[in-house]
Amino acid sequence: MGQSFWEKLHLALVLLHVGSAVTRDDPYRCYGAPGLPGLPGLPGKDGRDGLKGAKGEPGIPAPPATRGLKGMKGEPGSPGLPGKNGPVGPPGPPGDPGPMGIAGVPGMPGSYKQKHQSAFSVTRQTREHPSKNVPVVFNHVIVSTNQDYNTTTGKFTCRLPGLYYFVFHSSQTANLCVILYVDEVRMASFCDHNTNTMQVSSGGILLHVAAGSQVWLEVNDYNGMVGIGNSDSIFSGFLLFPD
Ligand SMILES: *[C@@H]1O[C@H](CO)[C@@H](O)[C@H](O)[C@H]1NC(C)=O
Repeated sequence: MGQSFWEKLHLALVLLHVGSAVTRDDPYRCYGAPGLPGLPGLPGKDGRDGLKGAKGEPGIPAPPATRGLKGMKGEPGSPGLPGKNGPVGPPGPPGDPGPMGIAGVPGMPGSYKQKHQSAFSVTRQTREHPSKNVPVVFNHVIVSTNQDYNTTTGKFTCRLPGLYYFVFHSSQTANLCVILYVDEVRMASFCDHNTNTMQVSSGGILLHVAAGSQVWLEVNDYNGMVGIGNSDSIFSGFLLFPD
């Protein structure tokens, strides 16, 4: 900066003083010339802050189109709600074949022959003579399609109407009469007097039987029928021709 304002002022005052002291016709000249003024003091400290100024006039509003400077990039916003479902896409490729299912129940017999089966062969395995005038119960089943012969009642029940053949072979240890019934009607009777300790008698008959009819064997007072080892008593029947 060079010389400050105060240094310049001081120099001017000194020159003025010298000039006046030399040129002025002063009566106190013998006292010598007054000394030079001292150097100005150092600048004082800054004063206190002034009072706050009055509020200025409002500025001119900016024209609507005026835009400020571009701001800094903001923080990313929170994620929005899920959008609506898009359109259905094209069908995918076919999946792998599934595992094999379990086997179904057997179907109904398909042929005419299989549909019309009825046959039974049952034995009476006891040393006891059967009761008189009631169905002889053959208690052991060899064959009985559809359980048509009932080992509790001793009766065959016809499901398939047609021509049947019934036959029995009985072992006896006493006199024996075997009577074949169809629905309480005596259809055939076979009687044998026992002449040996053990003998066999038999009988057979073809009969037309209606569906629902029952067929069985009975004995009367001659009831020596047995069924023991090597001496069986067997009652059989089968459908020969269905209706
Ligand atoms: C045999 O007959 C008895 C007495 O009528 C009956 O309870 C039973 O269910 C019959 N059994 C069969 C296999 O039909």
